[in-house]
Amino acid sequence: MGTVYLVTGAAGFIGANYVHLLAEWEPDAEIVAVDHLGFASNLANLDPVRDRISFECADIADPTAMAELYRRYAPQFVVNFAAESHNDRAILDPSAFMRSNALGAQVLAECSRRASVRTHLHVSTIEVYGELPAHEASFTERSPLNAKTPYSAAKAAGDQIVRAYMCTYPELDIRMTHCANNYGPYQLPEKLIPLAVTNVLRGRKVPVYGDGLQRRDWLHVADHCAAVHRILHAELGPVPDAAGTDPGLLPIFDISARHEISNLDLAHRVVTELGLDPDEWIAHIPDRPNHDRRYLIDPAKLETQLGWRPVHEFETGIAETVAWYVAHRDWWEQIIAEKGELEVDWSRMGTTAPAAP
Ligand SMILES: NC(=O)c1ccc[n+]([C@@H]2O[C@H](COP(=O)([O-])OP(=O)(O)OC[C@H]3O[C@@H](n4cnc5c(N)ncnc54)[C@H](O)[C@@H]3O)[C@@H](O)[C@H]2O)c1
Repeated sequence: MGTVYLVTGAAGFIGANYVHLLAEWEPDAEIVAVDHLGFASNLANLDPVRDRISFECADIADPTAMAELYRRYAPQFVVNFAAESHNDRAILDPSAFMRSNALGAQVLAECSRRASVRTHLHVSTIEVYGELPAHEASFTERSPLNAKTPYSAAKAAGDQIVRAYMCTYPELDIRMTHCANNYGPYQLPEKLIPLAVTNVLRGRKVPVYGDGLQRRDWLHVADHCAAVHRILHAELGPVPDAAGTDPGLLPIFDISARHEISNLDLAHRVVTELGLDPDEWIAHIPDRPNHDRRYLIDPAKLETQLGWRPVHEFETGIAETVAWYVAHRDWWEQIIAEKGELEVDWSRMGTTAPAAP
């Protein structure tokens, strides 16, 4: 029997990119793509590989549904990309984030433990480390988790659960990544880069929160996927006892190209790529509440221990990404037709909870 990969969150941005690449990298593998088809998903993201995968609509936080999938497909490798991922939506409805990002992480880890999968990789984010002070160089795997937004707190809860599995169940080979902000094709136009392109192409300005000086660390999605695949297959050996007090020794890897840029500069970049004047096409709008100012992580552990390097230059990567959204107008027009406008306007929204159902 061939190798079976179970990839969750596969109808989202990064999961779909990973499944496309996995189909190329592992032409003989069986790929089970799982997604509950929530708000951020788009099944059309999997169209290019539809004849190479088995798609399963299921919720990773549902233990019965997940146990049944593990029983049916007996995966050797599990990669968990499934999460609620949008900071703005997390402020408006945190409960769904806690379910997918924390409970879902645990249910999936437990299924992998019971099914004795060969390797389980949990995908997490730079945002669990919280906000990097302006005077500090970067976060590392040894930095404390300091999440303070509903999205990053839910992801950090998932991280803590995965760390507990790493330390408690030595028979389970479970690994984790923290990645910088991703850019590339198939990202829902609620996130900055595709929102900017799709707005401009429809004659609307690019919204920039507040002063736009929030700084982010950007990596091409294909570089993220290559890092995930390398970490999934690396020979790492057992978790040493000393990892209990030194998280740098846990099988956790930070992924970044060390490319830091402000949101305002990024918006300028996108508008310039479209051949227009940023001064005319960017609008500062009210900031979202509790907006982290800065993220940056250091990928030195991944570089030195596993030899990973990003291959996409930021300049060309952004130009190609903008060109992809220009060329795939049908793809994003269909999304906006189905989901409505995706821009969040905090001047018309508060953080007050809606009435209880
Ligand atoms: N986008 C980034 O810049 C970035 C950076 C670092 C890490 N990450 C992490 O990478 C992962 C993927 O992010 P993304 O940007 O592709 O997000 P996304 O929102 O585009 O996709 C997430 C997918 O997960 C699915 N999903 C959510 N909850 C689920 C559940 N309970 N069961 C099954 N499927 C579920 C959604 O339907 C969606 O298709 C997330 O874990 C995120 O935290 C993202």
